[in-house]
Amino acid sequence: MADWDGAGYAHISGLQRAMATDAVESVSVAGAEHVLDVGCGDGYVTRLIAARVPGGSVLGIDPSPRMIEAARTADDQLANVDFGVGDVTTMAFTRDFDLVVSFNALHWVVDQETAYRHIAAALAPSGRVLVQYVCGGPRPSIENVAMAVAGDVRWSAAFTGFARPYVHIEPGALTSIAASAGLGVTAQSVTDREWDFGSREAFARWCTVGFADWTARLPAADVPDFVDEVVDRYEAVVGRPGLFRFLQLRAELSRRVWNS
Ligand SMILES: C[S@@+](CC[C@H](N)C(=O)[O-])C[C@H]1O[C@@H](n2cnc3c(N)ncnc32)[C@H](O)[C@@H]1O
Repeated sequence: MADWDGAGYAHISGLQRAMATDAVESVSVAGAEHVLDVGCGDGYVTRLIAARVPGGSVLGIDPSPRMIEAARTADDQLANVDFGVGDVTTMAFTRDFDLVVSFNALHWVVDQETAYRHIAAALAPSGRVLVQYVCGGPRPSIENVAMAVAGDVRWSAAFTGFARPYVHIEPGALTSIAASAGLGVTAQSVTDREWDFGSREAFARWCTVGFADWTARLPAADVPDFVDEVVDRYEAVVGRPGLFRFLQLRAELSRRVWNS
């Protein structure tokens, strides 16, 4: 997976922040939980959660060293929050956390079964999970459009052997993915969301950070052209420059209780 631009992300992530702020407010905490934030990015959301568990702690992990660097050097640090480089598909926590959360990171993990298995292993026996990420639906996603552009004659040589770096699961698939990890879905919703970046340029800046997997394949001088092509083609999907539409899956899970 590509190393996301942590400093750049801090400047363009109003969208994620608005969504995560909603999600963090909607999760019930007593205030002493030990929490794991998977795919914490620059740690903004992690710190919001830490403020809600003053008697507990939060560990944010992310495989991108530049994201963790941004998380560790942000101005608004709290005593009960820590960050480390880590990947959900290889992390090896065993029964440490009362709550595992993940915001808009898990659609970047193609191997969903492994991700949920490791999340389940990280849970205390009565632990809970809250995840929120982009799921599949009838409308082509921005990532679908990026894959289509990568296949065009101009770009295809740079993308030889390139595997789709994301997955948008169908909402109905979560129950069986979770069950394979010993988790049960206790609540699930899908919201059709939109975010107006206010201009085509602002949307392109956001895409430039979020397209790290694609742009890692390109010379820096070609990145703006690639992003422009994706943004142009995506406009036909949503009908307006600067508009982003996506389906947001939110789910709460816990360990399954098996009846004997
Ligand atoms: C859109 S950012 C979300 C960051 C943060 N959770 C937020 O809401 O602002 C997606 C993050 O997922 C991370 N990510 C990608 N693959 C991952 C993996 N295998 N395990 C954990 N995080 C991953 C990326 O490094 C990136 O920081």
